[in-house]
Amino acid sequence: MRPNNLPQDKLLAERINEISRNFWNSAILRAGIKIGVFSLLEHKSLSVEEISEYLKANSSFVEAFLETCVVLGLLEMEQDKFTNSALASAFLIPEKKEYVGDLVLHITNHWDSWGKLDTLIREGRTELPFENGFVDASTYWMDYMKGQNNRAEAGQGDYLVKNVNLVGKHKLLDLGGGAGSYSIALCNANPQLKSFLVDQKEPLAIARNLIEEHRLQERIILVEGDFQTIELDTDNDVVLISGVVCITSQDEFRRLLRRSYDALLPGGLMIVQDFMRIDRSQERTFLDTMMDLYLKIAFDPNASDRHGDEIVSWLTDTGFINPKQIALPTQLALITAQKPSSLSEIN
Ligand SMILES: C[S@@+](CC[C@H](N)C(=O)[O-])C[C@H]1O[C@@H](n2cnc3c(N)ncnc32)[C@H](O)[C@@H]1O
Repeated sequence: MRPNNLPQDKLLAERINEISRNFWNSAILRAGIKIGVFSLLEHKSLSVEEISEYLKANSSFVEAFLETCVVLGLLEMEQDKFTNSALASAFLIPEKKEYVGDLVLHITNHWDSWGKLDTLIREGRTELPFENGFVDASTYWMDYMKGQNNRAEAGQGDYLVKNVNLVGKHKLLDLGGGAGSYSIALCNANPQLKSFLVDQKEPLAIARNLIEEHRLQERIILVEGDFQTIELDTDNDVVLISGVVCITSQDEFRRLLRRSYDALLPGGLMIVQDFMRIDRSQERTFLDTMMDLYLKIAFDPNASDRHGDEIVSWLTDTGFINPKQIALPTQLALITAQKPSSLSEIN
């Protein structure tokens, strides 16, 4: 090897070392949320001793941990006291609208699945966090649903509202509506609208509380069942499918689109919201590539991050017209389409 290649080789080796250590960062963020350090240090500067006493924890571990939070930009240290950085203060305080801590817990609840990625790749298998015991089922569902709701409250709900026109629409079917976040956003913005939200038992328990907080129990009706088999009304003005296209196989999703088409009145609006490859920035390509593997290990072996064009073709195959792909500055994009209002609009 030529000596003048050495610095470049060292840099490349360090890149490998850096990738190998990246999971430390996630662990520190997760631990900070779980032990409540960001809530404790909001608008407050405390010493290691004070924080250790509050946490009833070993002060040498606490000190080492707090210093890792400083190097990650989550905390700041001045005169031996620690306080939140602007980043932690903006996004890691549960009372704030921009809080994303539940989503962090949901993403990192898949820790053991990532840890045995080699096995899951060989076996082509999904493994849920409560199947390998990393967290129990109720924690899994709570973090999953509250995490989806974090995303909605942090801005996705507002983008959805701004990008769909529901004037004159009265009945919404929210398939796989989860915690109810988008039914809540759409009903709050459209006083004439009533939503029927279909999901499984566990998410509905969480949705019920959120809907009550928004006093929307009369306008968001929870329907427990499997969205592929439950009987659906056929007089809906709008169908929303959010966060489902990426976690199901193509066949399952096409089936759901056919069910949605049949559930809509002529002229009805179909809305698909999800991780979709519409905007091709470099940052998006990185996230979409990672997301594709995550979806397979965390949701369904046939799950996949989808291209917007692919979903548009499934919509038009089903009979929908006027598809529109809408890239958003958030992680989720939108595709809207219409059921033809008359026979002459078909074709
Ligand atoms: C990623 S979450 C999205 C929740 C919500 N729509 C949102 O965007 O925040 C997917 C939801 O689909 C629901 N789901 C998946 N398969 C389902 C099925 N066969 N029947 C009913 N709901 C289902 C899950 O329970 C979960 O709540």
